[in-house]
Amino acid sequence: MNAKLAILFFLLTIGFAMPILLGVRSVPDIQLPNLHTDYQPEQPIAYSHRLHAGVLDIDCQYCHTGADKGRHATLPNVQTCMNCHATAKGRTDSAKAEIGKLQLAMQDKNQDGQPDGVSWKRVHNNADFVYFNHQTHVRIAKFIDDSGNIVDGIDCVQCHGDMTTAGVAKQQEQLTMGFCINCHRTQNDRHVTANLPALAPVNSCDACHR
Ligand code: HEC
Ligand code: HEC
Ligand code: HEC
Ligand code: HEC
Ligand code: HEC
Repeated sequence: MNAKLAILFFLLTIGFAMPILLGVRSVPDIQLPNLHTDYQPEQPIAYSHRLHAGVLDIDCQYCHTGADKGRHATLPNVQTCMNCHATAKGRTDSAKAEIGKLQLAMQDKNQDGQPDGVSWKRVHNNADFVYFNHQTHVRIAKFIDDSGNIVDGIDCVQCHGDMTTAGVAKQQEQLTMGFCINCHRTQNDRHVTANLPALAPVNSCDACHR
């Protein structure tokens, strides 16, 4: 066994033994981050999806511009927020304080002279050995609903739940293998019925693990 592995095993053993040594009995509560349904880390700014995507009805892809272009949906940079917040400075004290943090994030420059940005905490996180591509799902896939209607692209709501009622993002679905495969299997069946090619991988492990 090489040295790095030995150290890793050592740390893992301590990591697993520690809660037991400390008398924590709810070991099953310790979950992988991707299995955290309802996981909602505290964010640096009290941003609200309910207000922006709900009340103001701003399109998801105005901020998550990568969703139909590639693997990652991406998070908006501060400039995108400033398109509105250079003028919309908030009416209540709490709104003014939160929006003020955006101004600060614009002033702090990194080495390239770009605004430092807001350090949003990651909510969803697939394991590194899983390949998921937003563009395939959001733009290329044909989605057939319960009534047999065929739509181009899978709506965000299918995987992220109704974000227009959320504050900061919260994980709504467990991103388990079953979650992916169940939809793939159902969609493939419906595609066959509708005489469309069934392209969602079910048994080809290397489609998702590459
Ligand atoms: C078929 C399921 C599915 C659909 C449809 C989907 N997503 Fe995702 N989304 C995921 C998964 C899985 C992850 C975690 C990916 C990872 O950790 O690499 C994720 C992660 C994200 C993230 C954070 C990481 C990133 O990729 O930048 C954002 C933001 C996001 N999705 C927004 C959206 C938006 C907006 C839409 C609709 C335009 C959408 N998603 C549609 C499954 C989906
Ligand atoms: C298309 C315009 C628009 C964009 C883009 C936008 N906002 Fe807003 N936002 C608003 C409006 C309008 C309000 C209500 C302002 C008020 O209270 O007067 C608001 C309110 C807020 C508030 C105060 C919430 C409260 O409690 O009232 C915060 C914080 C905020 N936005 C953060 C952000 C962040 C972070 C971004 C970028 C990711 C962003 N906004 C992008 C229009 C926008
Ligand atoms: C709501 C239904 C749905 C969910 C949930 C879903 N998919 Fe898919 N996926 C599809 C459909 C439909 C296709 C076929 C797309 C096409 O027409 O090419 C597909 C295609 C794919 C492909 C092949 C195309 C490509 O991008 O290389 C991969 C890989 C894939 N999905 C991975 C995943 C993973 C990983 C997850 C879970 C994190 C997931 N999918 C969740 C519906 C879904
Ligand atoms: C005005 C900009 C804006 C709009 C519009 C917007 N979002 Fe977001 N979104 C954000 C910001 C900022 C974050 C990071 C803070 C957080 O986690 O809530 C985020 C986070 C997310 C995440 C979690 C990313 C992660 O770390 O895993 C998902 C999923 C998501 N948004 C989906 C959506 C969907 C779906 C819509 C449309 C219904 C939408 N967003 C509309 C700005 C926006
Ligand atoms: C549609 C996408 C998809 C396909 C096809 C797929 N997997 Fe997975 N697999 C996943 C996702 C997503 C996870 C993430 C599980 C996690 O992080 O908890 C996963 C996790 C795993 C794990 C880790 C253990 C676990 O359950 O968390 C193993 C092992 C695995 N897959 C093997 C396979 C094998 C073998 C096949 C082929 C028969 C396969 N996978 C096909 C998406 C897929």
